[in-house]
Amino acid sequence: MRPKEMQKQLTRLTVLLLMALEAASQALRGCPNSCGSVSIPYPFGIGNSNHTGANCFLMKELNLTCTNSTLYHGQGNIQILNISLAGKIDMLVHISEVYKNESLGKKYNIGNRPRFSVPVFTISSEDNKFVTVGCDTYGYVSSIRKVTEFSTGCSTRCNTLEIVESMQRSGNCTGIGCCQVDIPPGMKNITFRAFSFYNFNSTSDFNKCGYSFVVKNGNYTFSVDHLKGVPFNMTPLVMEWSVGKDTCDISKQRTDYACKNNSDCENSPFDDGYRCKCKPGFQGNAYHPDGCQGNSIIYYFLILTFRQI
Ligand SMILES: *[C@@H]1O[C@H](CO)[C@@H](O)[C@H](O)[C@H]1NC(C)=O
Ligand SMILES: *[C@@H]1O[C@H](CO)[C@@H](O)[C@H](O)[C@H]1NC(C)=O
Ligand SMILES: *[C@@H]1O[C@H](CO)[C@@H](O)[C@H](O)[C@H]1NC(C)=O
Ligand SMILES: *[C@@H]1O[C@H](CO)[C@@H](O)[C@H](O)[C@H]1NC(C)=O
Ligand SMILES: *[C@@H]1O[C@H](CO)[C@@H](O)[C@H](O)[C@H]1NC(C)=O
Ligand SMILES: *[C@@H]1O[C@H](CO)[C@@H](O)[C@H](O)[C@H]1NC(C)=O
Ligand SMILES: *[C@@H]1O[C@H](CO)[C@@H](O)[C@H](O)[C@H]1NC(C)=O
Ligand SMILES: *[C@@H]1O[C@H](CO)[C@@H](O)[C@H](O)[C@H]1NC(C)=O
Ligand SMILES: *[C@@H]1O[C@H](CO)[C@@H](O)[C@H](O)[C@H]1NC(C)=O
Ligand SMILES: *[C@@H]1O[C@H](CO)[C@@H](O)[C@H](O)[C@H]1NC(C)=O
Repeated sequence: MRPKEMQKQLTRLTVLLLMALEAASQALRGCPNSCGSVSIPYPFGIGNSNHTGANCFLMKELNLTCTNSTLYHGQGNIQILNISLAGKIDMLVHISEVYKNESLGKKYNIGNRPRFSVPVFTISSEDNKFVTVGCDTYGYVSSIRKVTEFSTGCSTRCNTLEIVESMQRSGNCTGIGCCQVDIPPGMKNITFRAFSFYNFNSTSDFNKCGYSFVVKNGNYTFSVDHLKGVPFNMTPLVMEWSVGKDTCDISKQRTDYACKNNSDCENSPFDDGYRCKCKPGFQGNAYHPDGCQGNSIIYYFLILTFRQI
């Protein structure tokens, strides 16, 4: 092999080795590192370690299941698409649908009510929108926590298809046929629902169904065709996650403090609980018992590798 090629090969090998090292420190020992194509960093985990017998997850809310190479939360109705150690998790959640009900006449009508009531998860305000689709439809998303309840939503009414078409500009949700609102910060234990004002009594010729859902920014494009039905029954959304039930100051005194070596603690912005982050100049998984590693280890390793060339 010529030196140039050898160098290329070694670089490739180094990158692979570093990736393997990083992946190896994501889950606890004896715990699955991934399910399908989704990797599972501790504090999330599946079941028990086949090495120590202990839980693979930090707290029961972060216990996942893997069925048919698909990752689920809890009993299996929420699919997990991606987990980031920066405190975000992408999920697939059912939409709320409302259909014309022939037996109701002009009475209003309500759709199914998806809910997600796990307190360690807060719906991300910056990454999602709440959307309602239809021409005789309103919807709202509510957060109910102990005694506090707050909601937001939007409504859309239109009595001809032409008005929707004339408002419609390159798939944008303009408020007619499709409306959207920002999600307020700090929504936990959420539930949302689509409603019809008059059971589609004056829109039946072009619109007999309405929808409400929370969706990750950029993952929904409105189309006039959706007034006849949307081509999906779940949408991807982004939740923020944290661990523990107290602030950093209180948690630091406890034996189950989750932030390991070379990491910093950060209070969860909206409620009790906290997050762990590698200190500047360190990397890895701040929740993993191995803690975060200094870049110097990696540089040392790289130098060792290149000196072989
Ligand atoms: C233990 O779990 C790890 C991670 O899922 C897996 O790679 C390994 O094959 C398992 N070992 C046994 C003996 O089941
Ligand atoms: C983790 O989830 C699995 C599957 O739902 C369940 O069988 C197991 O009991 C859970 N473990 C704990 C500690 O909650
Ligand atoms: C797993 O996938 C197979 C093939 O796609 C399917 O027949 C089976 O029902 C699935 N099992 C579960 C539990 O979803
Ligand atoms: C998963 O999240 C990580 C970290 O935020 C990001 O870099 C990656 O692109 C995401 N992957 C997918 C498939 O969304
Ligand atoms: C229509 O409304 C009636 C009265 O509320 C209800 O009993 C029935 O289940 C509804 N039908 C459908 C298909 O939702
Ligand atoms: C979560 O919301 C439901 C209603 O959707 C409510 O009954 C329940 O008490 C709420 N849980 C908490 C912890 O506030
Ligand atoms: C539609 O939305 C895109 C992205 O938000 C924006 O760039 C574009 O100007 C909008 N088009 C119209 C006609 O409003
Ligand atoms: C639909 O119901 C509303 C409220 O009852 C009524 O004002 C309206 O005239 C009805 N439209 C048609 C086409 O029946
Ligand atoms: C969400 O949008 C991204 C980027 O356009 C795309 O890669 C991904 O497949 C979409 N996810 C879903 C579930 O629609
Ligand atoms: C924590 O990190 C420091 C500095 O990187 C190191 O000296 C120490 O041995 C580590 N402690 C443990 C328990 O890994």
